Amino acid sequence: MEKKKIVVASSNAHKIAEIGDIMKGYEFISMKDAGFDGEIEENGSSFKENALIKAKTVAEALGVTALADDSGLCVDTLGGAPGIYSSRFSGEGDEGNRKLLLKQLEGFEDRRAHFECAVCLYSPGGKTLFATGRTYGHILEEERGNGGFGYDCLFFSDDLKKSFGEATEEEKNCVSHRFRALEELRKLL
Ligand code: IMP
Repeated sequence: MEKKKIVVASSNAHKIAEIGDIMKGYEFISMKDAGFDGEIEENGSSFKENALIKAKTVAEALGVTALADDSGLCVDTLGGAPGIYSSRFSGEGDEGNRKLLLKQLEGFEDRRAHFECAVCLYSPGGKTLFATGRTYGHILEEERGNGGFGYDCLFFSDDLKKSFGEATEEEKNCVSHRFRALEELRKLL
């Protein structure tokens, strides 16, 4: 039987492959391959809103079902920052973001944090499914490991008892916020 095709509102091939590994039984294609090359303004005020904006924009433009995710790092002591601003925290890319985070946490004992991911599946006509996932840990005093991306080498995972930067991709994918959100979505489908 032919697999149902779902367009992912992303051009990140790595992310699309990861989604396909978790949600077996569907074929995922990038929005670009599906014919969407417009800009999407992520101006929501939560992960969920941003995921909806991305999925809805692509679904309505192409007339197909679209899946989008939005994620980031939330640090308790910083009131949940950088949160939805995780990728633009310092305005200077991943390395600048990590430096700024360490600077803002200087002198703080409570370094608890979690990654959060919201996923949204939007079908033309407005049928919408949401799911969220979290993974907990704390922010290290210095970088550990050099795997992954973003804040991985500063995030010590409660589940893995090591930083995401020290973990293999398989290890991280078993406990990640994105994995948990997609698992939740899979159950809803
Ligand atoms: P996106 O919504 O998945 O593109 O993620 C937005 C930003 O959140 C990224 O640019 C990273 O700074 C941060 N982030 C999200 N997920 C992760 C992760 O698994 N590891 C490290 N950083 C992440």
